Amino acid sequence: MSKIQMKTPLVELDGDEMTRVLWPIIKEKLIEPFVDLKTEYYDLGIKKRDETDDQITIDAANAIKKHGVGVKNATITPNQGRVDEYGLKKQWKSPNGTIRAMLDGTVFRKPILVKNIKPSVKSWKKPIVVGRHAYGDVYKNAEIKTKTGGTAEIVFTDAQGNETRETIMELPGPGIIQGMHNTEDSISSFARSCFEYSLGEKIDCWFATKDTISKTYDQTFKIIFEEIFAKEYKNKFKNAGISFFYTLIDDVVARMMKTEGGMLWACKNYDGDVMSDMVASAFGSLAMMSSVLVSPNGYFEYEAAHGTVQRHYYKHLKGEKTSTNAVALIFAWTGALRKRGELDALPELCNFSDRLEKIVIETIEDGYMTGDLAGICNPPAKKVLDSTQFLDALAQRLKTAL
Ligand SMILES: NC(=O)c1ccc[n+]([C@@H]2O[C@H](COP(=O)([O-])OP(=O)(O)OC[C@H]3O[C@@H](n4cnc5c(N)ncnc54)[C@H](O)[C@@H]3O)[C@@H](O)[C@H]2O)c1
Repeated sequence: MSKIQMKTPLVELDGDEMTRVLWPIIKEKLIEPFVDLKTEYYDLGIKKRDETDDQITIDAANAIKKHGVGVKNATITPNQGRVDEYGLKKQWKSPNGTIRAMLDGTVFRKPILVKNIKPSVKSWKKPIVVGRHAYGDVYKNAEIKTKTGGTAEIVFTDAQGNETRETIMELPGPGIIQGMHNTEDSISSFARSCFEYSLGEKIDCWFATKDTISKTYDQTFKIIFEEIFAKEYKNKFKNAGISFFYTLIDDVVARMMKTEGGMLWACKNYDGDVMSDMVASAFGSLAMMSSVLVSPNGYFEYEAAHGTVQRHYYKHLKGEKTSTNAVALIFAWTGALRKRGELDALPELCNFSDRLEKIVIETIEDGYMTGDLAGICNPPAKKVLDSTQFLDALAQRLKTAL
């Protein structure tokens, strides 16, 4: 059987710990026998980042800008414990944060559904994709804790030195104050990324803020979304048979508990932080959550939503078997290969990605899965597989299917 040829390389960003162990096995068993895989490889493992003073992360992000599509493994974001563990020069920044800042993207997390794992919310039948605006708000704030009462104000000084002042509160006693911001550019990028994602997946886009209370801040989000939609996306959505729905955040949360799912839920930064974990947990498992960074400039980076599965890695180092679930990592590869296939007009690459995803789902639905899923599936698993047994089971089915 001849292998599927690629035109443009995928930018491959390798990572750390247990996911670094699984990464080459996924390629070797599930992709390389069928695809003449072309990648431009960047080692974002913590040692290489330390060795290159994190230049490798910047190079990898630039490569995604050049080629358009990247696939990323999970990486360690070092804290002091990791600095000691790996003897690092410093606590390097989160690679995801660096890449996001360079590509100016929005992160979309989509659960991978299987019939034998039922969402905790009974009405949910289709995936709910959470699109999180990953810039500003409370994540880049300034805070003061006062020792006494006094006047709390916000002050803005423009380039000419003109001041705009607003009193927040005459504090009667000690209190706390918080200042935060966002930019029209970032909100516009967020809106366009969400509309592009909805169009790509042909699903409705729901967006919510608390504009009735936050009449300037949140209302700016609402207005920007509505203006961009009216000018640039209304007709495209109509042609695709999908819609844009705006409501209040409390209303959307209530409605979400009664829907069938099957939409993009565009969330402001804090809402996305909180709601994406609720959605992930309600759909079953972090290891069944795929994630893609979509940039308004047409760059895509696919990854698993989970981390490096540190606990399993330490077991692996001791020579013990682990039952690490590779599903979200496989879906990162299939997502990236499918997108490459779409951009390079290679339908056979798209078909291969569809087929591999279908086999992953069928295998789990037939009762063969890793330990994390065995604990939550119904009917019970036929066989609980370790990390490589699961990948071998997929490879076997893939060979007979193609
Ligand atoms: N996208 C990323 O690169 C990313 C995301 C989150 C955390 N991290 C990094 O990962 C490291 C570990 O972080 P963590 O433990 O908080 O997160 P984690 O996602 O690795 O693990 C969280 C929990 O989920 C379980 N789990 C996650 N993925 C699993 C899988 N595929 N199969 C079976 N069980 C799975 C783990 O056993 C653990 O109990 C940290 O150094 C952190 O910086 C990276």
